[in-house]
Amino acid sequence: MSLNNNKPVLPQSKKLTLGLFGFGVVGKGLYDVLHSTPALQASIKKICIRNADKKRVIPQEHFTTDANELLHDESINVIVELIDDADAAYNIVKAALQKGKAVVSANKKMIAAHFEELLHLQHIHGAALLYEGACCASIPIIRNLEEYYDNDLLSAVKGIVNGSTNYILTKIFDDGLSFKDALLQAQQLGFAESNPALDIEGHDAANKLSILLAHAFGRIAAPSEFLYTGITSIKKTDADLAKQKNLKIKLVATAQKINDSQIAAFVLPQFVEEQDELAGVSNEFNALITESSFADKHFFKGKGAGAYPTAAAVLSDIAALRYNYKYEYKKYLQENTPELSNDYYLKIFVSADDIEKIDKDQFAWIEEWHNEKNNNWVVGIIQSALLQQNNWWKQPGVSLILTKNPVVQNVEYREIGKKSLELAGVI
Ligand SMILES: NC(=O)c1ccc[n+]([C@@H]2O[C@H](COP(=O)([O-])OP(=O)(O)OC[C@H]3O[C@@H](n4cnc5c(N)ncnc54)[C@H](OP(=O)(O)O)[C@@H]3O)[C@@H](O)[C@H]2O)c1
Repeated sequence: MSLNNNKPVLPQSKKLTLGLFGFGVVGKGLYDVLHSTPALQASIKKICIRNADKKRVIPQEHFTTDANELLHDESINVIVELIDDADAAYNIVKAALQKGKAVVSANKKMIAAHFEELLHLQHIHGAALLYEGACCASIPIIRNLEEYYDNDLLSAVKGIVNGSTNYILTKIFDDGLSFKDALLQAQQLGFAESNPALDIEGHDAANKLSILLAHAFGRIAAPSEFLYTGITSIKKTDADLAKQKNLKIKLVATAQKINDSQIAAFVLPQFVEEQDELAGVSNEFNALITESSFADKHFFKGKGAGAYPTAAAVLSDIAALRYNYKYEYKKYLQENTPELSNDYYLKIFVSADDIEKIDKDQFAWIEEWHNEKNNNWVVGIIQSALLQQNNWWKQPGVSLILTKNPVVQNVEYREIGKKSLELAGVI
């Protein structure tokens, strides 16, 4: 008997007709990638762009500037949204879902800003919205958080989630480039957002952490609800100190359970030791570490920006739609989802060109203190709520960098710390 006679048959998959919005770095990347995977049975019917006069590498007849040409076309069953304007993207995605069309998007800013409404629209119109490319580009993290970590209890998700800031930090540290030159290179290579402030001020990483929080812990939280900053304040003296101590500085996003019902979430620069998994993550690469009760630790690493790595994630979402895949948002829908807390303590390094800029009174505990002309720094423990409510650490000339394992659980630090500062005559 030939075993081939009993070979199972693949279920019939849907034929997909795509309406593509955007033909920039990722849109053009998707176009190329789709043409290399004919077996997928997905074809682009029309591409909507902003500027009709721009020179394109494919014939003009493929393009339109009229969004309705795609949205009202009954033969288009999937809208792929890859534009750099979050407000316009929101209108496009909303209209598509309302028409019952499935949507694939890579727009983390738009998704983080409208998460709850987009979830509701999917529910009432029965159409899927997939966005693997919006979070760490080529790393398949969202579907893993949804499916694999459905039952295993996650305690933390943390890592490097922004490719352009990681590229800039790598070039500053390893090649001695200036911040300005490193940013220019990241832009030329297509890693940076059209508005680079989104990357370097930490907004992009915060948008991704917002998406991760929803899929890892079922908690929907806008970036304004947690602590975050970018890499613009990191000074040469910080980089020199890190090098002297064999450390690297990385922009790290963290979502970590602090007890059964509360999560700490923040995006801040952090010192990482050479042997730390994140230290070896360079250039536009991203990496995520998950920590869970039974599986323990997993480390994901992959390209977090660029045309083809992002297009690969978009393509994977398109492929999943052939089998009607949808996120179920089970962790969000279950009862007792953990709350975001700002009542936890962080061990931080703060440096300043003028010692007066460091608000010593806010520290619960000061462990190290260095005072020298133009190079003053403090290592200490501070309540996250105080950082969230006060801006002294965001002044020009001040930089804040987390230490290794920065979350300090022991809230008694506040009282002990106050006493020690009084004794030392600091307050
Ligand atoms: N680049 C990356 O590495 C990366 C990685 C992950 C996620 N993403 C996300 O992917 C999306 C696209 O990024 P990108 O780097 O490809 O941007 P991009 O290179 O700047 O391209 C943007 C495209 O959007 C089009 N566009 C802008 N507004 C439009 C509108 N209202 N209607 C129709 N088309 C419009 C532009 O049209 P014109 O060509 O006419 O100007 C352009 O083709 C963004 O959400 C970004 O956050 C990017």
